[in-house]
Amino acid sequence: MRTQQIPPDVVIVEDPREVARTLAESFCVAANNAITARGRFNLALAGGATPKATYSLLAEPPYRSLIAWGSVRFFFGDERCVPPDHPDSNYRTARETLFAPLEIADAKIFRMHGEEDPATAAAAYAQTLTRELGALPVLDLTLLGIGADGHTASLFPGTPPEDGSQTLVRATVAPENLPTRNRLTLTPYAINAARKIIIVAEGAAKAGVIAEVWNGAYDPTKYPVQSIRPVHGRITWLLDQAAAATLRPT
Ligand code: 6PG
Repeated sequence: MRTQQIPPDVVIVEDPREVARTLAESFCVAANNAITARGRFNLALAGGATPKATYSLLAEPPYRSLIAWGSVRFFFGDERCVPPDHPDSNYRTARETLFAPLEIADAKIFRMHGEEDPATAAAAYAQTLTRELGALPVLDLTLLGIGADGHTASLFPGTPPEDGSQTLVRATVAPENLPTRNRLTLTPYAINAARKIIIVAEGAAKAGVIAEVWNGAYDPTKYPVQSIRPVHGRITWLLDQAAAATLRPT
């Protein structure tokens, strides 16, 4: 089994409300560290439902006044191949919960163009990342969720998430039970370059897959989230007690 380069930190909190508060606080720490060190904070937002409460919290007092939002640039870890105003759009979720309440300028938001041909949009987003962040784009923070099947971002079971290339963005196809089949996603190569990765999960429905991912064999084709191992940065798993229920101490 491939060992974790840096043992991931696990933070277990009581419930979803505490997940949102803890993630908002971690977001503020990462943002202010990056802005102090480099003058700006470049992050990739996670899609799905779990982070929505955190995004809303960040747009309210006290958090909204704790960050120089003009120094923050928003990227995305993945996107559904739908227009930006579609209910399934991760951009739409972020706009409604974060960008609009904080009046984030469009110039600070780098969305994946889900409305375009997936392969074209993936290549275009890779160019956006290298133009804005350099040949190996290093995000200060990448937020991720995990699906009950072990997917993360839009890296789904059945396809090896890593292909040994330096591809940054890929078009993928989600299982039928998930919203919007055609997807765009950062690759593990892009994700693992981040200075900080936070994987967030809550609820009993995630307990089984988290136990498998942590205590089972290393098989990233079966559990793509296992391919998330920062090369130089740090990773934190933020779980509520329900999602961490079946973890055994390592
Ligand atoms: C997406 C996400 C996806 C999500 C997980 C968990 O676009 O759907 O990137 O990876 O994080 O499916 O989703 P929930 O937070 O809704 O359980």
